[in-house]
Parts: sequence; structure tokens; C-alpha cells
Amino acid sequence: MENFIEEVVLSNEEIVRICEKIGKQITEDYQNKNPLLVGLLKGSVPFMAELMKHIKCDMEIDFMEVSSYAGVNSTGAVTILKDVKADIRGRDIILVEDIVDTGLTIQEVINFLGSRGARSIEIATLLDKPAGRTVKCQIPKYIGLEIEPKFVVGFGLDYNQKYRNLPYVGVLKRWVYEK
Ligand code: PRP
Repeated sequence: MENFIEEVVLSNEEIVRICEKIGKQITEDYQNKNPLLVGLLKGSVPFMAELMKHIKCDMEIDFMEVSSYAGVNSTGAVTILKDVKADIRGRDIILVEDIVDTGLTIQEVINFLGSRGARSIEIATLLDKPAGRTVKCQIPKYIGLEIEPKFVVGFGLDYNQKYRNLPYVGVLKRWVYEK
């Protein structure tokens, strides 16, 4: 374990097991529906890559990038930096996230995609931090692990853009972000 990590929250083996389980559920839930998995850049990339390997029905992927502004909790708080390419009218969408915290990002994206005629929208997130919610947000259907309000990095999750490349999720030691 790296010296800046206090404890491992999810080992790589556990992440793979989670992706197998969620992949199996999605396979069962979306037979003949050709779901569109929409990953939110950049944090979702490793989770998307592992999860999609375990989905055994037809599916497609696309990505969006949004920027959120801390402290703002009204409509329009999220700016769309990159939109999906696919026409989403009538599509069954699964939003893929590394973490749902305040719920702001995911809810704004749901409102945005919902207004463009998606048939259904569900959320698959590796981590859920329910204590962090500041907005009313759709409950994720597929959750890898519910966590306490701690500062976690790795497997896509960053601190100042670093640590996304760790193969596991861990709690960052305080001195790293308090120095
Ligand atoms: C992170 C994470 C989620 C969002 C969750 O993204 O990937 O998208 O924050 O937080 P919320 O529920 O409070 O909105 P970030 O904006 O840091 O971008 P990134 O994916 O590039 O790390």
C-alpha cells in the first residue's frame, strides 16, 4: 500500500468482484434493450472499463464531461463540457459514476438527458456516499459499496487530478491535503 494511503476501502480483487456482480445484474435487466452506458469523465473511466467486460448483452458506451461548482445547489449548477454523441431518444441509459456524493452532478445529468427523451435512466456507481447528499437525487440502482464520508482516491477518483491510476480505492492520509 502507498505511504499516502491510510486504509484500503476496496482492493482491486473486490472491485472486480463488484463489477462481475453488477455486470450480471445489468445483463439480466437489459436483455434485448441495448443499453447505452454513459460514463462521466474522468473518474468513471476505470470502473466503466472493468464493468463493461462483465456485461453479456448488447450494449454501447458513450461519455459526457460536466463541471460542477461547489456550493451551488440549484438548476444550472453543472455545465456540460462534453455531450454524448449518440441520439438518446428512446434509449435505456445507465449512467456510470465512480462516486455519488452530494448528488448534484448525477441529478443535473439525469435532468439534462431526461429532457432529451431517454426512455429510462439508471445509475451505476462504484461508490455511494449517502451522508454527502445536499440535493434530492435519484437513488442509484447499482451500487458497488456504500462508504462513510471520508476522502477516498484511486480507481478513477482523484485529489487535484492525482491518484486516479491506483488499482484500488483508499482513504487519503490527511497530511496530503492539509499540507
Ligand atoms: C466527481 C465524481 C462525480 C462527482 C460526484 O467528479 O467523479 O462525477 O464528483 O460528486 P457529487 O455527487 O458531489 O456531484 P469531478 O467533478 O471531481 O470530476 P472527475 O470525474 O473528472 O474527477
